[in-house]
Amino acid sequence: MPVIRVDDLGKRYRLGQMQPYKTLRESLGRAISFPIRAALGTRDDLEERHQSREILWALRHVSLEVNQGEVVGIIGKNGSGKSTLLKILAQITWPTEGRVEFKGHVGAMLEVGTGFHPELTGRENVYLNGAILGMRKAEITRRFDEIVEFSGVERFLDTPVKRYSTGMYVRLAFSVAAHLEPDVLLIDEVLSVGDVDFQKKCLAMIKGFPESGRTVLFVSHNLWSVRQLCDRIVLLEDGRIISRGPADEVVAKYVGEGSGGIEESGTLDPFAVSVVGKGVGGYEIMAVRITDRDGNLANRFGISQGALAEITMNVKTAGVRPQFSLALFDDHRHRVFGSLNNTDPAYGEALEPGEYIVTCEIPADLLNNGLYSISLICGTLDGRDSQRLETVTKFECIDDGILRGDYKGEYTGALRPRLEWQTRKAGTS
Ligand SMILES: Nc1ncnc2c1ncn2[C@@H]1O[C@H](COP(=O)(O)OP(=O)(O)OP(=O)(O)O)[C@@H](O)[C@H]1O
Ligand SMILES: [Mg+2]
Repeated sequence: MPVIRVDDLGKRYRLGQMQPYKTLRESLGRAISFPIRAALGTRDDLEERHQSREILWALRHVSLEVNQGEVVGIIGKNGSGKSTLLKILAQITWPTEGRVEFKGHVGAMLEVGTGFHPELTGRENVYLNGAILGMRKAEITRRFDEIVEFSGVERFLDTPVKRYSTGMYVRLAFSVAAHLEPDVLLIDEVLSVGDVDFQKKCLAMIKGFPESGRTVLFVSHNLWSVRQLCDRIVLLEDGRIISRGPADEVVAKYVGEGSGGIEESGTLDPFAVSVVGKGVGGYEIMAVRITDRDGNLANRFGISQGALAEITMNVKTAGVRPQFSLALFDDHRHRVFGSLNNTDPAYGEALEPGEYIVTCEIPADLLNNGLYSISLICGTLDGRDSQRLETVTKFECIDDGILRGDYKGEYTGALRPRLEWQTRKAGTS
């Protein structure tokens, strides 16, 4: 039985018009990152945007049915229309064309503080938010302790939420939205600002929703959690649904073989297999690709996930001892780092003929979000022969938010390593 039915939905924006609402990133990000942006002179860009009167269809011809108890993921590149779809379903904004029908209460976790009033305390906001979700006071009181416990913000319950960190906001807002038993829960990315433990708790909770007959629409760039949670995924591109179906299939289409977003953006090719058959000193490189930690091809991965560069080679002459030097470049062709395969336990071993897979770890919590490419120098240990393979593969590292805490601004630089910080009182150890 469909609880949500979306029929030929369209949303048109006039670029440069005043935004009728603020998004999470805008409302919080602006305050924190404004001084940085102002210093960079980005004000001009803003003015330019104001003058533009271009029309943009954020969504067009979108039809979708979601059944009771389904967990449906919505994925797609930045600006593909995911948030717009959820905002229409949550009635924060209205469609330009088409129809939406749904049954029951809708709870939305679209952005931090949707329905939260900054001057009110956490306690007051739980009641306010509950009321917005259509709950009676008695119902809210009944669930109050559970909500607070799940959120972990007990100590700050009587503090106005404007003093909360982004993470605390999200914790409380998620708890309210999830515990007040909406029939449909819309979740847009926000979980990514909570810490890892809280995210796990939320994911576990969402997983249990279908059993109680609740329906979830879940937008995220974290393909790992989307895959974990969702039975079905809808892939948006430029406001249109370009693929829908079982989670694994759609994710594979999004990241995968030849149809990845990177290729379509015109800047990069997908998994480059351009080096097929490049021979050097008794072996041939068949492919250089990026995979996730389980070995699935993936040319996008989250900053906190890391990945593997995978070299497939065909050894033709017995006794070959390959040597590789891998270099990573950022989108501006700056070299980020280089690495030799001399940490491979098989380094220096004379190989039998046959096909081999060599992997090199791209560590988690190291790269910044952005596009990267890999070049490879392939040689042999005796140094007799070597060949440079430029830009053998490219990938995108996606901001999964895990390192952010409550910071919503930009991180600059080619790297975004996770570093340990500590404060101690001078004179103590
Ligand atoms: N209020 C608005 N006024 C004008 N344009 C808007 C507005 N909201 C969204 N857009 C535009 O609509 C398009 C779709 O935006 P939307 O926020 O739905 O994308 P998204 O898929 O959620 O992206 P992200 O992954 O970055 O969150 C974008 O081009 C965006 O610039
Ligand atoms: Mg969005």
